[in-house]
Amino acid sequence: MRKKIVAGNWKMNTVKEQGVELAKAVAAKAGEAPANVGLIIAPPFTHLCCVAKAVEGTKIAVAAQNCADHTSGAYTGEVSAAMIKAVGCSWTILGHSERRQYYGETDEKLVEKTKLALAEGLGVILCVGENLEQREAGEHFAVCESQIKNVLFNFSADDMARIIVAYEPVWAIGTGKTATAEQAEEIHAHIRKTLAGKFGAKVAEDTTILYGGSCKPSNAAELFAQKDIDGGLIGGAALKADDFIAIAKAFEA
Ligand code: PGA
Repeated sequence: MRKKIVAGNWKMNTVKEQGVELAKAVAAKAGEAPANVGLIIAPPFTHLCCVAKAVEGTKIAVAAQNCADHTSGAYTGEVSAAMIKAVGCSWTILGHSERRQYYGETDEKLVEKTKLALAEGLGVILCVGENLEQREAGEHFAVCESQIKNVLFNFSADDMARIIVAYEPVWAIGTGKTATAEQAEEIHAHIRKTLAGKFGAKVAEDTTILYGGSCKPSNAAELFAQKDIDGGLIGGAALKADDFIAIAKAFEA
Protein backbone atom coordinates (compact mmCIF):
# COMPACT_ATOMS: atom_id res chain seq x y z
CA MET A 1 0.00 0.00 0.00
CA ARG A 2 1.28 3.46 -0.80
CA LYS A 3 2.53 5.74 1.96
CA LYS A 4 0.88 8.94 3.06
CA ILE A 5 3.45 11.74 3.38
CA VAL A 6 3.52 15.36 4.40
CA ALA A 7 6.75 17.06 3.37
CA GLY A 8 7.85 20.60 4.22
CA ASN A 9 9.88 22.53 1.64
CA TRP A 10 11.44 25.37 3.61
CA LYS A 11 12.94 26.94 0.45
CA MET A 12 15.45 29.73 1.19
CA ASN A 13 14.07 30.44 4.64
CA THR A 14 15.59 30.20 8.14
CA VAL A 15 19.19 30.64 9.23
CA LYS A 16 20.74 27.77 11.16
CA GLU A 17 19.41 28.57 14.65
CA GLN A 18 15.89 29.21 13.36
CA GLY A 19 15.99 26.02 11.33
CA VAL A 20 17.05 23.87 14.28
CA GLU A 21 14.40 25.52 16.43
CA LEU A 22 11.71 24.86 13.80
CA ALA A 23 12.84 21.24 13.39
CA LYS A 24 12.68 20.72 17.16
CA ALA A 25 9.22 22.28 17.30
CA VAL A 26 8.03 19.94 14.53
CA ALA A 27 9.60 16.96 16.33
CA ALA A 28 7.92 17.93 19.60
CA LYS A 29 4.52 17.83 17.89
CA ALA A 30 5.16 14.90 15.54
CA GLY A 31 3.35 12.53 17.90
CA GLU A 32 0.10 14.41 17.16
CA ALA A 33 0.29 13.41 13.48
CA PRO A 34 -1.40 10.11 12.57
CA ALA A 35 1.06 7.23 12.98
CA ASN A 36 0.68 6.19 9.32
CA VAL A 37 1.63 9.62 7.94
CA GLY A 38 5.33 10.06 7.18
CA LEU A 39 6.88 13.48 7.85
CA ILE A 40 9.77 14.94 5.85
CA ILE A 41 11.38 18.35 6.26
CA ALA A 42 13.64 20.01 3.67
CA PRO A 43 15.77 22.81 5.12
CA PRO A 44 18.45 24.76 3.22
CA PHE A 45 21.83 23.00 2.64
CA THR A 46 23.64 25.01 5.33
CA HIS A 47 21.75 23.40 8.18
CA LEU A 48 20.83 19.97 6.83
CA CYS A 49 23.43 18.49 9.16
CA CYS A 50 22.21 20.26 12.34
CA VAL A 51 18.58 19.65 11.52
CA ALA A 52 19.23 15.95 10.84
CA LYS A 53 20.91 15.71 14.27
CA ALA A 54 18.06 17.60 15.93
CA VAL A 55 15.43 15.14 14.64
CA GLU A 56 17.51 11.96 14.97
CA GLY A 57 15.49 9.16 16.55
CA THR A 58 12.14 10.82 15.73
CA LYS A 59 9.78 9.87 12.91
CA ILE A 60 10.90 12.89 10.88
CA ALA A 61 13.10 12.34 7.82
CA VAL A 62 15.25 15.07 6.32
CA ALA A 63 15.47 16.03 2.64
CA ALA A 64 17.65 18.36 0.60
CA GLN A 65 15.92 20.73 -1.82
CA ASN A 66 18.18 19.86 -4.74
CA CYS A 67 21.32 17.89 -5.57
CA ALA A 68 24.07 18.13 -8.18
CA ASP A 69 24.03 16.40 -11.56
CA HIS A 70 27.62 15.22 -11.08
CA THR A 71 29.22 13.03 -8.42
CA SER A 72 32.20 15.25 -7.46
CA GLY A 73 34.87 17.53 -8.84
CA ALA A 74 35.10 21.00 -10.34
CA TYR A 75 31.48 22.14 -9.98
CA THR A 76 31.74 25.27 -7.85
CA GLY A 77 28.74 25.87 -5.65
CA GLU A 78 27.16 22.45 -6.16
CA VAL A 79 26.28 19.85 -3.51
CA SER A 80 26.40 16.16 -4.40
CA ALA A 81 24.03 13.37 -3.46
CA ALA A 82 26.81 11.72 -1.44
CA MET A 83 27.32 14.93 0.57
CA ILE A 84 23.61 15.13 1.27
CA LYS A 85 23.45 11.50 2.32
CA ALA A 86 26.53 11.85 4.55
CA VAL A 87 24.90 14.48 6.77
CA GLY A 88 21.88 12.33 7.58
CA CYS A 89 19.39 13.03 4.79
CA SER A 90 17.33 10.25 3.28
CA TRP A 91 15.58 12.27 0.56
CA THR A 92 16.06 15.03 -1.94
CA ILE A 93 13.48 17.15 -3.69
CA LEU A 94 14.22 17.47 -7.42
CA GLY A 95 12.71 19.51 -10.23
CA HIS A 96 10.88 22.06 -8.13
CA SER A 97 9.34 24.66 -10.46
CA GLU A 98 11.46 27.42 -8.88
CA ARG A 99 14.55 25.49 -9.91
CA ARG A 100 13.16 24.80 -13.37
CA GLN A 101 12.19 28.47 -13.79
CA TYR A 102 15.12 30.34 -12.21
CA TYR A 103 18.03 27.90 -12.48
CA GLY A 104 17.51 26.28 -15.85
CA GLU A 105 16.76 22.83 -14.50
CA THR A 106 15.70 20.68 -17.46
CA ASP A 107 14.13 17.24 -17.54
CA GLU A 108 17.43 16.01 -18.97
CA LYS A 109 19.36 17.27 -15.93
CA LEU A 110 16.71 15.78 -13.67
CA VAL A 111 17.36 12.34 -15.11
CA GLU A 112 21.03 12.66 -14.10
CA LYS A 113 20.19 14.05 -10.68
CA THR A 114 17.66 11.31 -10.03
CA LYS A 115 20.16 8.62 -11.07
CA LEU A 116 22.83 9.98 -8.74
CA ALA A 117 20.44 10.45 -5.81
CA LEU A 118 19.11 6.89 -6.14
CA ALA A 119 22.64 5.51 -6.50
CA GLU A 120 23.51 7.10 -3.14
CA GLY A 121 20.46 5.51 -1.54
CA LEU A 122 18.46 8.73 -1.33
CA GLY A 123 14.75 8.79 -2.09
CA VAL A 124 13.58 11.39 -4.61
CA ILE A 125 10.58 13.72 -4.49
CA LEU A 126 10.17 14.69 -8.15
CA CYS A 127 8.08 17.81 -8.76
CA VAL A 128 5.99 18.32 -11.89
CA GLY A 129 3.36 20.89 -12.76
CA GLU A 130 2.09 23.34 -15.35
CA ASN A 131 2.29 27.13 -15.27
CA LEU A 132 -0.68 29.47 -15.62
CA GLU A 133 -0.27 29.96 -19.36
CA GLN A 134 -0.19 26.20 -19.91
CA ARG A 135 -3.26 25.70 -17.69
CA GLU A 136 -5.17 28.40 -19.56
CA ALA A 137 -4.21 26.80 -22.88
CA GLY A 138 -5.59 23.49 -21.61
CA GLU A 139 -2.14 21.88 -21.69
CA HIS A 140 -1.94 20.84 -18.03
CA PHE A 141 -2.41 17.12 -18.58
CA ALA A 142 0.10 17.05 -21.44
CA VAL A 143 2.71 19.10 -19.56
CA CYS A 144 2.63 16.89 -16.46
CA GLU A 145 2.59 13.74 -18.55
CA SER A 146 5.64 14.80 -20.54
CA GLN A 147 7.59 15.79 -17.39
CA ILE A 148 6.81 12.35 -15.92
CA LYS A 149 7.77 10.55 -19.12
CA ASN A 150 10.95 12.58 -19.75
CA VAL A 151 12.30 11.87 -16.28
CA LEU A 152 10.76 8.78 -14.74
CA PHE A 153 10.49 6.62 -17.84
CA ASN A 154 14.29 6.33 -17.66
CA PHE A 155 13.98 4.36 -14.42
CA SER A 156 12.91 0.87 -13.43
CA ALA A 157 9.89 -0.37 -11.52
CA ASP A 158 12.25 -1.12 -8.60
CA ASP A 159 13.53 2.47 -8.65
CA MET A 160 9.93 3.69 -8.40
CA ALA A 161 9.77 2.29 -4.85
CA ARG A 162 12.04 5.19 -3.81
CA ILE A 163 10.43 7.91 -5.88
CA ILE A 164 7.59 10.18 -4.81
CA VAL A 165 5.88 12.46 -7.32
CA ALA A 166 4.70 15.93 -6.28
CA TYR A 167 2.15 17.67 -8.48
CA GLU A 168 2.64 21.40 -7.99
CA PRO A 169 0.74 23.68 -10.34
CA VAL A 170 3.04 26.69 -10.64
CA TRP A 171 0.11 29.13 -10.49
CA ALA A 172 -0.79 27.81 -7.03
CA ILE A 173 2.67 28.02 -5.46
CA GLY A 174 2.97 30.78 -2.88
CA THR A 175 0.00 32.58 -4.41
CA GLY A 176 -2.68 31.57 -1.92
CA LYS A 177 -4.55 30.21 -4.95
CA THR A 178 -4.94 26.49 -4.28
CA ALA A 179 -6.02 24.09 -6.99
CA THR A 180 -9.48 22.79 -6.18
CA ALA A 181 -9.61 19.22 -4.95
CA GLU A 182 -11.14 18.23 -8.31
CA GLN A 183 -8.44 20.02 -10.34
CA ALA A 184 -5.72 18.33 -8.29
CA GLU A 185 -7.37 14.90 -8.30
CA GLU A 186 -7.77 14.77 -12.08
CA ILE A 187 -4.08 15.47 -12.61
CA HIS A 188 -3.05 13.00 -9.88
CA ALA A 189 -5.20 10.32 -11.50
CA HIS A 190 -3.63 11.13 -14.87
CA ILE A 191 -0.12 10.89 -13.43
CA ARG A 192 -0.97 7.51 -11.89
CA LYS A 193 -2.38 6.31 -15.22
CA THR A 194 0.77 7.47 -16.99
CA LEU A 195 2.91 5.55 -14.49
CA ALA A 196 0.69 2.47 -14.87
CA GLY A 197 1.24 2.54 -18.64
CA LYS A 198 4.98 2.19 -18.14
CA PHE A 199 5.47 0.33 -14.86
CA GLY A 200 2.19 -1.56 -14.46
CA ALA A 201 -0.83 -1.04 -12.23
CA LYS A 202 0.81 -2.29 -9.04
CA VAL A 203 3.75 0.14 -9.15
CA ALA A 204 1.41 3.01 -10.05
CA GLU A 205 -0.92 2.12 -7.16
CA ASP A 206 2.02 2.02 -4.76
CA THR A 207 3.48 5.39 -5.82
CA THR A 208 2.90 8.26 -3.43
CA ILE A 209 1.69 11.37 -5.28
CA LEU A 210 1.71 14.60 -3.26
CA TYR A 211 -0.11 17.84 -3.98
CA GLY A 212 1.73 21.15 -3.51
CA GLY A 213 0.66 24.77 -3.94
CA SER A 214 -0.84 26.87 -1.15
CA CYS A 215 -1.78 23.76 0.82
CA LYS A 216 -2.68 24.78 4.38
CA PRO A 217 -4.56 23.46 7.43
CA SER A 218 -7.86 24.85 6.11
CA ASN A 219 -7.77 23.07 2.73
CA ALA A 220 -5.63 19.98 3.38
CA ALA A 221 -8.47 17.68 4.46
CA GLU A 222 -10.45 18.19 1.26
CA LEU A 223 -7.36 17.63 -0.89
CA PHE A 224 -6.19 14.57 1.05
CA ALA A 225 -9.66 13.00 0.86
CA GLN A 226 -9.19 12.53 -2.90
CA LYS A 227 -8.48 9.00 -4.07
CA ASP A 228 -5.15 9.78 -5.74
CA ILE A 229 -3.80 12.47 -3.41
CA ASP A 230 -1.47 10.90 -0.87
CA GLY A 231 -0.33 13.97 1.02
CA GLY A 232 1.30 17.33 0.43
CA LEU A 233 4.50 19.15 -0.36
CA ILE A 234 4.13 22.24 1.77
CA GLY A 235 5.97 25.55 1.33
CA GLY A 236 4.83 28.56 3.35
CA ALA A 237 2.78 26.59 5.90
CA ALA A 238 5.76 24.32 6.66
CA LEU A 239 7.54 27.26 8.32
CA LYS A 240 5.16 27.05 11.29
CA ALA A 241 5.32 23.78 13.25
CA ASP A 242 1.65 24.09 14.28
CA ASP A 243 0.44 24.49 10.69
CA PHE A 244 2.68 21.75 9.36
CA ILE A 245 1.41 19.25 11.93
CA ALA A 246 -2.18 20.46 11.48
CA ILE A 247 -1.82 19.58 7.78
CA ALA A 248 -0.64 16.06 8.68
CA LYS A 249 -3.61 15.77 11.04
CA ALA A 250 -5.95 16.61 8.15
CA PHE A 251 -5.74 12.92 7.18
CA GLU A 252 -7.87 12.19 10.24
CA ALA A 253 -10.56 14.73 9.34
P1 PGA B 1 3.51 26.90 -1.05
O1 PGA B 1 4.75 26.16 -1.78
O2 PGA B 1 2.90 25.88 -0.12
O3 PGA B 1 4.14 28.04 -0.32
O4 PGA B 1 2.56 27.32 -2.10
C1 PGA B 1 4.69 24.81 -2.15
C2 PGA B 1 5.97 24.41 -2.81
O5 PGA B 1 6.51 25.19 -3.62
O6 PGA B 1 6.50 23.30 -2.56
